[in-house]
Amino acid sequence: MRLKNAMEQTMRKSNGINRRGFITGAICTLASLMGGVFATSVSTYLLGNPQAEDTGWADAGDISDLQPGAPQQVSFSRSREDGWRLQNERATAWVVIDDHMDVTAFSPRCTHLGCAYHWQANRKEFVCPCHGSVFGEDGHVVSGPADRPLDRYAVKVDADRLWLGPIERAKNS
Ligand code: FES
Repeated sequence: MRLKNAMEQTMRKSNGINRRGFITGAICTLASLMGGVFATSVSTYLLGNPQAEDTGWADAGDISDLQPGAPQQVSFSRSREDGWRLQNERATAWVVIDDHMDVTAFSPRCTHLGCAYHWQANRKEFVCPCHGSVFGEDGHVVSGPADRPLDRYAVKVDADRLWLGPIERAKNS
């Protein structure tokens, strides 16, 4: 009889732990989903409407202000067509100038779900805080969930001015 009571108590305890573990896991999963949705919405608000189309080239500043080597974030103004509306908006790009002075400008949106990523100098990688995608300095995917390299702006340099055109979508890795 005593053995049976002890077994019942043990089973009740383990059920309690499993239930508690399940509820904790469900709450963590829900919180992380809500965090992802929130971060995506905030970045859409801050980075502009992804459906709007670029109308041409935008002056992104004096190229001599940028140092070759580590990526630098530049902000500039550009016009975009959103349906029938022409809107001026602030935009950003991550610009990399290599030793040969070749210029690459990455779209500031992560290719997973569009969050803003940042350059982490000590790792020499671009890191997205939303779901942890990591990209190399040349934009390739180091680790997912993103499955495409970073998208790039069309780039031209004219009389020391850096001009950024439409964003060109990168193909899957
Ligand atoms: S938006 Fe999901 S990893 Fe960047």
